[in-house]
Amino acid sequence: MAATQAETPLIEARGLRKRYGSIVATDGVDFDIMRGEIVAIVGDNGAGKSTLIKMISGAVTPDEGEIRIDGVPVSIRSPIEARAHGVETVFQDLAMPPNLDVVTNIYLGREPMRRGPLRLFGAVDKKAMRKEAAAHLSDLSINIPRLYGSPVSALSGGQRQSVAIARAMVWASKLVIMDEPTAALGVAQSAKVLEIVRQVRDRGISVAIISHILPHVLDIADRVIVLRHGRKVAELPTSELDEHKLIELIVGVRSAQPAASRAAVS
Ligand SMILES: Nc1ncnc2c1ncn2[C@@H]1O[C@H](COP(=O)(O)OP(=O)(O)OP(=O)(O)O)[C@@H](O)[C@H]1O
Ligand SMILES: [Mg+2]
Repeated sequence: MAATQAETPLIEARGLRKRYGSIVATDGVDFDIMRGEIVAIVGDNGAGKSTLIKMISGAVTPDEGEIRIDGVPVSIRSPIEARAHGVETVFQDLAMPPNLDVVTNIYLGREPMRRGPLRLFGAVDKKAMRKEAAAHLSDLSINIPRLYGSPVSALSGGQRQSVAIARAMVWASKLVIMDEPTAALGVAQSAKVLEIVRQVRDRGISVAIISHILPHVLDIADRVIVLRHGRKVAELPTSELDEHKLIELIVGVRSAQPAASRAAVS
């Protein structure tokens, strides 16, 4: 019998493998993300976290493996294709044209059009963009001094991060992927980002979040996936984790720990 929609994971990734020359960045990783779930992906530098999520974001094409969205096998060849599937990403390097203003960055490639004279020529509806962008940012309690007429390069790192996050939150219909969203942020800004993540989840959108800040991971995630040297070594509900155990899993100090963790989820 076919599974009901509620039971089918939003994302099913199977055997994702990506090699760069002699380096195996991810070595056959399986994971699921359920609807409305916040999943954290943790691991040391170079563990393969960014590579793994980039295969869902469309920024990296897997050498092997399969991705299903809502049970349907998909091939995601670019971030534009990921967006068409309702998946938005806040990349670790932000990837935001620095010379454009906040409003233009939020709408880039998706500008609302207004009909021109005789309904022949469309034009970008700047007024609507400015109004909607301001409303979206205000909904997310994000405070940016100048939304237009000033390039995002004039913003602080944290403000730019907030704009990238807002852009993803505005457009995502199924999944937001965030690669270290709080790494550049102060205490208050980080708390705000975590609050935004919860708001998005409350709208039924799933979130995959990469972070080295373990208190943030334990605070926000429903489930944690641990990568080590390109392999998934543990996958546990946050309720079964504390910071000490998470560190052990990340660095692999106890040889028995990963096997026990794997058993816990299989
Ligand atoms: N474009 C690339 N070309 C060559 N090697 C790469 C590339 N991207 C990643 N790698 C390698 O793949 C491995 C995994 O990198 P990845 O960026 O996925 O790690 P990460 O877990 O996100 O690390 P960090 O916590 O430092 O962001 C690393 O050894 C890295 O050097
Ligand atoms: Mg990374």
